[in-house]
Amino acid sequence: MFYEPDKDDHGLPFNPYKSIVVPRPIGWISTITSDGIVNLAPYSQFNNLGYDPPYVMFSANSFPETGRRKDSVKNAMPIELRDRIAADIRAAAADPALIERLAAVGQVARGGTPAEFSAMIDEQHAKMASIVKSLGLKPQR
Ligand SMILES: Cc1cc2nc3c(=O)[nH]c(=O)nc-3n(C[C@H](O)[C@H](O)[C@H](O)COP(=O)(O)O)c2cc1C
Repeated sequence: MFYEPDKDDHGLPFNPYKSIVVPRPIGWISTITSDGIVNLAPYSQFNNLGYDPPYVMFSANSFPETGRRKDSVKNAMPIELRDRIAADIRAAAADPALIERLAAVGQVARGGTPAEFSAMIDEQHAKMASIVKSLGLKPQR
């Protein structure tokens, strides 16, 4: 089957994207704010990824009308935690021993801020879009 999720000409009463994976189990994602308020919300895009260490994932969209982050995301990954992880990665990427080990296998250690990472992704999207457009590339069945 060839299906382009951004085209809405499927003739079905509902967009079939969410039915691509069936059955569609629902994860009840429970999170807690740093000041102890509990939250429970259903997420079908979730799974158990491993047990050593045990970890699970869920994937959340932002609210499309406002771009607001969902509460489960805010609780599971508060901005302060995100910034702390980014700072730790920046520090690790500046460690000469790590730089040397990565260089030995042809890799470059690079850290940055979340804003820089986001800008880099936007820049790459724009570059790829302009290549695809200028070459007139189209998806093939
Ligand atoms: C059955 C079901 C499955 C859902 N799955 C998802 C999902 O996988 N990802 C997502 O972003 N929202 C999903 N939603 C919508 C969220 O549950 C909804 O936006 C909710 O308000 C988010 O709550 P929160 O802000 O407390 O995290 C689902 C809703 C339902 C009813």
